[in-house]
Amino acid sequence: MNNFSYYNPTKLVFGRDIIKCIGQELAANNVKKVLMLYGKGSIFKNGVYDTVSASLKDNKIEWVEVGGVKANPVISKVREAISVSRENDVDAIVCLGGGSVYDSAKAIAAAYYHDGDAWDLFAKEDLDISKALPIYGVLTISATGSEMNSGGVITNEETLSKWSFGSPLVFPKVSFLDPSIQSSLPEKQTINSIVDILTHLYEFYFDGTENVDLMMGYTEAIMKTTIEHGKVLLNDPSNYESRAELALSGTLALNRSTGMGRSGGDWSTHLIEHALSAIYDISHGAGLAIVFPAWAKYVYKDNLPAFVRFAENIFNIKEGTDEEKALKGIDSVIEFYKSIGAPTSLKDINVGLEDIDAITENAARIAPFGTVKPLYKEDIYNILKLAL
Ligand code: NZQ
Ligand code: ZN
Repeated sequence: MNNFSYYNPTKLVFGRDIIKCIGQELAANNVKKVLMLYGKGSIFKNGVYDTVSASLKDNKIEWVEVGGVKANPVISKVREAISVSRENDVDAIVCLGGGSVYDSAKAIAAAYYHDGDAWDLFAKEDLDISKALPIYGVLTISATGSEMNSGGVITNEETLSKWSFGSPLVFPKVSFLDPSIQSSLPEKQTINSIVDILTHLYEFYFDGTENVDLMMGYTEAIMKTTIEHGKVLLNDPSNYESRAELALSGTLALNRSTGMGRSGGDWSTHLIEHALSAIYDISHGAGLAIVFPAWAKYVYKDNLPAFVRFAENIFNIKEGTDEEKALKGIDSVIEFYKSIGAPTSLKDINVGLEDIDAITENAARIAPFGTVKPLYKEDIYNILKLAL
């Protein structure tokens, strides 16, 4: 096990009917005026907007609104929201939505006090982020873990760069998570959630760190819970207990608790997926379902013990040589994704051989990456070919 320090200051308020406490929480922290940030309108249908507005009014919190944050959020919207926040002199952000809204809130919070352009957060690695607006959020889809981590991913639509930034200052101060709100999700979004949660678990599980037995078992428990309760939800979307299990799995899968004592995760699947969704604007979960099996087939020999353990413990594969078990485990992931309706190849999203040069070029701008096997441009191309 590697040495590590673990820090996570986010207060997570979890359960039925807790969203109405947001105004009280803001008042207790002496917040007077906020930017309310949200997406394309789901919060008007599932009651979140009404509950939060009433709670703010009851606690005499003023607000200004910016809506319209799109899935795969873009830097132009971040810039617009920073202008509105500065004009109105807000002292916090209240974000209502999923990873796209949370990530935008993080970029707004950190760039609010920055003299240059908001994209500097993503493009300038040595940028010193010394101050940020506090973020209070209501999570409406459990997938990214953004509600309890310090990273954000935004696309620069002019350069098609979908890049991330991180700072301890953008951990949400408080996240409210009522799993019952997620009953309103379209089935496709629940499928995306299942795949994203599993892939966050894979990124650490397969990162090649040795002697992390507790972390392996902890991660497997979250994987099994995600698969079991994800299946329940596809037949019974309003099942509260399964929504709660999936939601907690999503938070734990990327609040970095599965990374204790590890090398920090592999992240190749995510970085290739970001290059893919920057160009094609597909859902993050759909892209991951396509890229992970191809990445796994390309690298499994470099971390055979983890792939064998995964096959045995997650899919109960006990027969065959180690190599056969590892490959059967990867095939089982593909079968599971097919069974829930996730795409598993580039052709499922109408991307062909003629398109993979452009995706490779886009991903290779930040290569090499990956801990199991450092990936260079040629490797990325080979993985995308395996994903056809
Ligand atoms: O825009 P609205 O109308 O709100 O609709 C959203 C959106 O269309 C809808 N939705 C959310 N909650 C709903 C709902 N519809 C009905 N009922 C509800 N309760 O779902 C759609 C997807 O929302 P989005 O926020 O885009 O989903 P997700 O949470 O999966 O976020 C994906 C983004 O986060 C990034 C991804 O790359 C992608 O850009 N990621 C962020 C990470 C992080 N900060 O740690 C890590 C991840 O690996 C990921 O890269
Ligand atoms: Zn992800």
